[in-house]
Amino acid sequence: MCGIVGAVAQRDVVPILLEGLKRLEYRGYDSAGVAVLGGAADGGARSTLCRLRSTGRVAELEKLSRAEALAGRIGIAHTRWATHGVPSEKNAHPHVSGGVSVVHNGIIENHDELRARLRAKGYQFASDTDTEVIAHLIHSNLHSGTSLFDAVRASTAQLVGAYAIAVVSDGEPSRFVAARHGAPLLLGLGEGENFAASDASALVQVTSRMIYLEDGDCAEVALGSVRIIDAKGAAVERPVHASQLSAAAVELGPYRHYMEKEIHEQPMAVANTLEMVSGAQSVSAQLFGAEAERILGEVDSVLILACGTSYHAGMVARYWIEGVAGIPCNVEIASEYRYRASVPNPKALVVTVSQSGETADTLAALQHAKQLGQRYSLCICNVPESALLRASELRFLTRAGPEIGVASTKAFTTQLAVLVLLTMTLAKVRGRLSREREGELLLSLRHLPTALQNVLHIEPQVKMWAEKFAQHQHALFLGRGIHYPIAMEGALKLKEISYIHAEAYAAGELKHGPLALVDKHMPVVAIAPKDALFEKLKSNLQEVRARGGELHVFADQDTRMTGGDGIQVIRMPDHAGLLSPILHTIPLQLLAYHAALDRGNDVDKPRNLAKSVTVE
Ligand code: F6R
Repeated sequence: MCGIVGAVAQRDVVPILLEGLKRLEYRGYDSAGVAVLGGAADGGARSTLCRLRSTGRVAELEKLSRAEALAGRIGIAHTRWATHGVPSEKNAHPHVSGGVSVVHNGIIENHDELRARLRAKGYQFASDTDTEVIAHLIHSNLHSGTSLFDAVRASTAQLVGAYAIAVVSDGEPSRFVAARHGAPLLLGLGEGENFAASDASALVQVTSRMIYLEDGDCAEVALGSVRIIDAKGAAVERPVHASQLSAAAVELGPYRHYMEKEIHEQPMAVANTLEMVSGAQSVSAQLFGAEAERILGEVDSVLILACGTSYHAGMVARYWIEGVAGIPCNVEIASEYRYRASVPNPKALVVTVSQSGETADTLAALQHAKQLGQRYSLCICNVPESALLRASELRFLTRAGPEIGVASTKAFTTQLAVLVLLTMTLAKVRGRLSREREGELLLSLRHLPTALQNVLHIEPQVKMWAEKFAQHQHALFLGRGIHYPIAMEGALKLKEISYIHAEAYAAGELKHGPLALVDKHMPVVAIAPKDALFEKLKSNLQEVRARGGELHVFADQDTRMTGGDGIQVIRMPDHAGLLSPILHTIPLQLLAYHAALDRGNDVDKPRNLAKSVTVE
């Protein structure tokens, strides 16, 4: 989704801004732009506002700025993911009004009304965006004697919706202003230079000292200082965090794509996430926060809220939580829950699951739950200091490392690992986990990184299947029980990066409609672990074969299932019992990855998708 970078320094900031944009490319975008106070190659000492924008990749913008010899000591830059107005140069940010220039993430809901008011004042609009409204609004509030900071504050007070903005004005060439409400924004502190960005990874090359702005904050960022005013207008000091993010962690290394790297990083990502229990004889509620023992003891049910892949992790967890801990668990798509008239249960533990911690729908769903009086919240998230983590009482930070590929992979398996820990803890608090069972499960968790590594060895076989899938337009994914959500995740992975239409069904549902789609042109993937439903699943697979459907079965080693006419089987190396869904995820990620490659797609930046969905 959109990305913001801002910088003020005593050196040329154009390379810093462009490098920052490149590091934000993974979020997904369709156009990019930069504005500096400076100009041609004079070291940027002048204060003329210069803006360059282009559709397509940041590399295009970089070429353009080299050709124009763009330079400046203060500037803002942006990658845009179209919401209002098609992807085009005129809609790309920064937007300008006189000497004011603005970049914006989020959506301004009252833009029509503001546009009408500004038009009445004589402002003319050059784009179809909601952002241009902000630029004109700030310009209209910039009367003589008013600072840019005050003009931005007066303007944001009139905005309805979500925003993170960075603003420069040629009237104040040594400082820029950053403000946020409902969309993430942070400041980076350097030595005699300061920065702002929507994501810490954009600044990793210039500083590791970060200040995360709170909702309603407005900051004035100058060479040697930053000043922050909170939503109530009070001057505030926000804590400075040392970011753990290293430049190496966001680099590709020997891999061709981030998705490939992240699939292969899963053993390590899961090992890091489970580090706190790696030598432990028992699980402790403290893993989820200081108050967890009390809260987990008081809750009588669980409500999981999430989107996309994270929602699938929640669906898997429902089987664990009800099956092992024995308490009711509901799982809801966050964008549905937030607008549904649900019956609140103040004793439910509201669990949000999110890779980014910034997904607008999940954040709004949590706020909605709180408004309904649901006071117990836990967030499982991969990004430290993200909005969701900060809004939750209890938290568990997955340690997958930065996930750059748009298709979520290692975030999902680490979420599942944490959800196993949550299940064990809930069961233990309720006296439903014997010491013996606890020990067995901890042993399986310790073995999990090795088991994941073993599954990765089947990649060459999966790659051969992918070649065939790449030639199809449709595919079906089948699973039963706890592997049904894994089938859903497999279908999502395939469609989002290979653009092959894929549907997942609980295998028992086939005969209630979708069997009509099955013929020899329909490849069918089945997830066939050796569990209590295996024989039932085999009957469902017979239904597919009887209609000529081509079966591709991921079976556990101990099923002794073999291939035959119209049935191909890949045997999974390990049988992992309760943890089986985590292992069965890997071949489905590999299938999607190789099918997308075979179709020549941009695996890391699939069309129409963004990494963090910070708009509704
Ligand atoms: C799919 C994918 C998305 C995200 C969803 C939620 O591969 O990545 O479906 O899972 O947008 O994002 P987070 O987990 O950041 O809340």
